Amino acid sequence: IYKWHYSGLNRWHGAGSTADFQKIIQERCDTYTQTIRPGSRSRNCQAIRQAFMSAFISKDPCKATKEDYNSLINLAPPTVPCGQQVFWSKTKELAHEYAKRRRLMTLEDTLLGYLADGLRWCGEPGSSDLNIWSCPDWRKDCRTNYVSVFWEVLSERFAESACNTVRVVLNGSLENAFDSMSIFGRVEAPNLRPQVELEAWLVHDTGKPPSDSCSGSSIRKLKSILDGRNVKFRCMDNLSRDQFLQRS
Ligand code: APR
Repeated sequence: IYKWHYSGLNRWHGAGSTADFQKIIQERCDTYTQTIRPGSRSRNCQAIRQAFMSAFISKDPCKATKEDYNSLINLAPPTVPCGQQVFWSKTKELAHEYAKRRRLMTLEDTLLGYLADGLRWCGEPGSSDLNIWSCPDWRKDCRTNYVSVFWEVLSERFAESACNTVRVVLNGSLENAFDSMSIFGRVEAPNLRPQVELEAWLVHDTGKPPSDSCSGSSIRKLKSILDGRNVKFRCMDNLSRDQFLQRS
């Protein structure tokens, strides 16, 4: 039992792959290409599902590389029309609500972001199945797991494609609204192209005072990352959730 526990399918500290992963990917892909964005109908969902599976099936779940996802991302690059992008960090639900109301797009409104949103997946060397018992945890097992690397490489491509004015929704109820270790901080902000303009919105919980502002040290850090890349920056703070959704 000891040996099975530490060498078998149960050895990772994170939850296992989402049940029916392949079926969910296929169904979400059909829904997205037929109903949500019918313009993208030409995309082949069977090929996309197969490319997704080949990226990680039978591989060491701690040895994911960006290259593993090349063929998948080339089938459906996460690009959106100029000026429509919304980034977020610790504000997932709010940013999605905002994007929906304004007809803007988050990463989860692109095909691959939509397919993978909230799912977990990992494989196992020598097996053609997903490991449904456990998958590597980012902290306790390895950072180069397939789920983390997927969001990093997809976010990188999403940020690289930004043009004109883009927005980020940050959590003004945290002491540091900008977290340089988050995906937005590590991957997206440093990959914006010169001449893009980033508008940051610091939004706090309605009925509470804000905990961070545009003049705080975390936003100064963001500003310095952007200055180094010639990205223009504007910052709006002291907005409650309700004010932000109604007026911004
Ligand atoms: N579903 C599940 N997990 C996700 C998703 C998703 N749709 N998007 C990101 N993740 C993971 C990532 O590993 C990320 O680190 O959840 C974490 C969310 O953490 P936050 O600190 O709230 O935000 P951040 O790390 O900045 O990631 C969000 O990255 O994915 C992009 O465009 C997206 O701007 C957004 C940012």
